[in-house]
Amino acid sequence: MSEAYARALRDSIEDPEAFWRQAAAAIDWVTPPSRAWDDQGGWFAGGALNTCFNALDRHVLAGRGDAIALIYDSPVTGTIRRFSFAEMLDEVGRVAAMLVRLGVGKGDRVVIYMPMIPETVFAMLACARLGAIHSVVFGGFAPLELAKRIDDARPKLLLTASCGIEGARTIAYKPMVDEALVFAEHPPEHVLLFQRDRVTADLHGPRDIDWAVLREAVAGEAVPECVAVAADDPLYILYTSGTTGTPKGVVRDNGGHAVALAWSMANIYGIGAGDVFWAASDVGWVVGHSYIVYAPLIVGATSVLFEGKPVGTPDAGTFWRTIARHGVKTFFTAPTAIRAVRKEDPDATFLAAEGLGGLQAIFLAGERADPDTIGWLEEKSGLPVIDHWWQTELGWPAIASCVALGDSRRKRGSAGFPVPGFAFAVLGEDGQPVPTGESGAVVIRAPLAPGAFRTLWNNHAGWEKNFATFPGWYETGDAGFIDAEGFVHVMGRTDDIINVAGHRLSTGQMEQIVAAQDGVAECAVIGADDAIKGMVPIAFVVPRAGYESDSAMATRVIAAVRHELGAVAALKTAHVVPALPKTRSGKTLRNLLRTICNGDELVTPPTIEDAAVPGMIAAVVHVES
Ligand code: COA
Ligand code: AMP
Repeated sequence: MSEAYARALRDSIEDPEAFWRQAAAAIDWVTPPSRAWDDQGGWFAGGALNTCFNALDRHVLAGRGDAIALIYDSPVTGTIRRFSFAEMLDEVGRVAAMLVRLGVGKGDRVVIYMPMIPETVFAMLACARLGAIHSVVFGGFAPLELAKRIDDARPKLLLTASCGIEGARTIAYKPMVDEALVFAEHPPEHVLLFQRDRVTADLHGPRDIDWAVLREAVAGEAVPECVAVAADDPLYILYTSGTTGTPKGVVRDNGGHAVALAWSMANIYGIGAGDVFWAASDVGWVVGHSYIVYAPLIVGATSVLFEGKPVGTPDAGTFWRTIARHGVKTFFTAPTAIRAVRKEDPDATFLAAEGLGGLQAIFLAGERADPDTIGWLEEKSGLPVIDHWWQTELGWPAIASCVALGDSRRKRGSAGFPVPGFAFAVLGEDGQPVPTGESGAVVIRAPLAPGAFRTLWNNHAGWEKNFATFPGWYETGDAGFIDAEGFVHVMGRTDDIINVAGHRLSTGQMEQIVAAQDGVAECAVIGADDAIKGMVPIAFVVPRAGYESDSAMATRVIAAVRHELGAVAALKTAHVVPALPKTRSGKTLRNLLRTICNGDELVTPPTIEDAAVPGMIAAVVHVES
């Protein structure tokens, strides 16, 4: 263990007040906070700041206006554009002026349903500038899901673009927005739409407004000033899958978020002003919020905004090409993306040909990084490949190897050690710590570190539930163990959330959709292992008598999930079976279904309702053979 890491961990736990007050010095405050933690006010209560000022203005004021803030690299459109901090400030100022024209002010919500283009980043920062609260919705979600988020956030304005580009496909966004606004009970007053070259969307006035026209209309207007917000005021709402069909609106504050992200860049990723950082994620996910948009800019680094896929845009060398081309120092992606690259290019010939420029480390997160994938990447790249763990709720990594603090300890299969600020334990069902090496619920001591959520939008009781099972501890929903050397191993979820290609989804939500389809008597959706995506959902459907053929029913439920939840659900397999395996008390044995799908050795649980099993297994074997 490095001395710097040990000291930071100790200080953060023994004297969090001093530790985080010192970290807060990395942020420019309008009103500096007088203390770090306050039971009522949260982190940095009494402090006031503006996150956009910290991301842009202060770097320009410090004379770094010509430094590059954002590199937009879009292999799907053949475009590379670079924006300096000064140019970003101009662009963000223009969008902020557009938002002001449309009546957006402090505390108003703005839903952003946009692809990976610079305008999306401008829009997020423009909201931050005005103290408005953005809620970015991932483009892979269907209109109904967008509508749910609109109704919960009740935005004044919705920002969108005419299309997203998904590999070889162009996806028109406006028809989805129009459909969502039909479903929504609280539609926004206006839709502001950015027309991309590839698709021209129809605009329905006076609701719909053309981005370029409004941009022109505000040309020459002064850039709106940064609005000072309280440290605890929300910067954004990001909806994530919970265990019900209703997404949870994670609320991120301004102060704790800025401090935590600045700390993480310096001490986890080893990135500062002038360095190039690339998180190959999507702005629709928390990784995109934290590590494409806010963290790199807050520390004055260059961020890469990549509109492409790991493979097929145009080939499996696109990651390495982009890294070498832009001089990326630290790269962050999901294990699933590396598995996709490896499948196409097992000998890493592209990597050998393109090189890695000055790349120093590769970080992986979003799902457990399997040892085999880490091994392959370490061997081919010759670089440290660092698995690290976090969640939308936390906003930044909580388990990692803090290489930037000189801690080089790594063990394949483990996400590393607690990040300073987070005190972990593994508890058994009785709420007591389990012996070293034994599995249990992974929990973090309350209060959580700066940056972590302090409420859910419109649902504070839902937030409190995370602390109810183990009083004094935050229940992560993950299961795992801590080994004798202190490595934390996160092995899977304790609830029905699954990770599909690094995307967090709820099988419970899919079950609700399937169960609502005509002719479905009963159903279960489970996550089965997948060589590329980590996990994929599989549905089991018991039909009512007299319904269509098995294959027609399977096709129908798959289409329903895609239509209602979105393509991102990636439900491609549905088995129509005569019965589900159940315990005698009537509980569906999802673990057994998972075992069958994974081809693992089948151990029939003693409590099973015997009659159901043989038929069901026969049906599955029949479908898969
Ligand atoms: N807008 C619209 N549709 C989208 C979308 C978006 N932003 N993102 C994904 N989709 C669609 C895909 O086109 C696909 O549709 P299809 O079923 O018609 O093919 C579906 O949703 C599933 O997408 P995905 O799970 O991404 O599968 P894929 O086969 O297209 O790609 C990977 C597989 C592994 C290459 C890709 O998922 C990937 O790069 N994952 C990394 C994710 C990541 O970075 N997560 C963040 C955590 S760090
Ligand atoms: P999300 O909120 O989308 O970031 O998903 C968070 C969940 O993804 C966690 O609760 C874990 O279940 C899983 N996860 C993320 N990173 C890792 C990791 N490095 N190892 C294991 N699981 C991970």
